[in-house]
Amino acid sequence: MNKGALALLVHGGTDNWSPVRWMKRFGDVCPDRPVVQMPDASFDPTKVHYAAVWKPKPGDLAGFPNLRVIFNLGAGVDALMADSTLPDLPLVRVAVPDLTERMTEYVVLHALMHHRQELYLRESQRVKRWSPQPQWAANAITVGIMGLGALGAHAAGVLRHVGFKVVGWSRSPKEIAGVPCFHGEQLDAFLRQTDILVCLLPATADTRQILNRGLFEKLNRDSPMGAPVLINAGRGALQNEADILSCLEDGTLGGASLDVYVKEPLPTDSPFWTHPKVVLTPHNAADTDPDEISKYVAQQIERFEAGGALDNVVDRGRGY
Ligand SMILES: NC(=O)c1ccc[n+]([C@@H]2O[C@H](COP(=O)([O-])OP(=O)(O)OC[C@H]3O[C@@H](n4cnc5c(N)ncnc54)[C@H](OP(=O)(O)O)[C@@H]3O)[C@@H](O)[C@H]2O)c1
Repeated sequence: MNKGALALLVHGGTDNWSPVRWMKRFGDVCPDRPVVQMPDASFDPTKVHYAAVWKPKPGDLAGFPNLRVIFNLGAGVDALMADSTLPDLPLVRVAVPDLTERMTEYVVLHALMHHRQELYLRESQRVKRWSPQPQWAANAITVGIMGLGALGAHAAGVLRHVGFKVVGWSRSPKEIAGVPCFHGEQLDAFLRQTDILVCLLPATADTRQILNRGLFEKLNRDSPMGAPVLINAGRGALQNEADILSCLEDGTLGGASLDVYVKEPLPTDSPFWTHPKVVLTPHNAADTDPDEISKYVAQQIERFEAGGALDNVVDRGRGY
């Protein structure tokens, strides 16, 4: 029973981030290791070797002098990178099939929703209007995915199976069968082909407010949809919300599916709530499942203690 303790710091605010739920799961998967939910004034912080965290308060992690690894319980580490006191230790993020497949469900659902004119059809149902518009095939539409990492690359493959043309853009060159991949300064060429823009980028200094009017104006306008559509499930910091609203108003964008916002929870006075061209979800495109992720962390700790390498370590220089 001399194993280093695992400290749990979870501040999510929603049911999925109930600290009690995560505590129970970590207790189950780390039966011979002390698991302590922070803050706990009675527990000696020098005994903590690992921290599993979601949105810890800035400075929280600096309080463990013998910490060895920080496990972020989600894929995006932007909240942690904003903590100037974050200890200089390996920072592991989540990249597991469970999370990836959940995100692909969201992306496919929303791409199909816009392609199949669901907003128009639901409104038709509400007003009892039997007036179908011509429907084009999926292969008439190109979905452009910004971010070809764990999430973007998987969504690209499934969207292709559905029948869409798919293109992608990332920082470094990529090769994905059947998906023309652009990178870095080839952004404009990628945008020119894109009818449905899916953003699965991390929020970093380089990507902040990348989703702005200047970018939307470069999207293709010749598809059967008439105007391009935005789907953002990356982070709110990636989007300029005033630009999204004005582009929806003047037709630069034909619609938007938003899962993430500059301010979360989305304030009740945000125009997004009631906008007829916006399909809104409360940052639940891909929930982190406590069962899956506690196992993922426990396995990584076992391997690390046996001298093995950690998976999915964040590159602090790049910020993701
Ligand atoms: N809404 C939700 O529920 C939810 C759930 C999970 C995750 N997310 C968000 O999704 C993001 C992506 O997750 P992931 O697991 O796919 O991350 P990932 O594997 O790290 O992939 C990130 C992708 O973005 C690209 N990228 C980063 N900076 C770039 C830049 N400046 N220019 C061009 N491309 C850039 C990377 O390019 P390279 O391949 O060249 O490195 C990579 O392809 C997370 O960071 C998180 O914010 C949201």
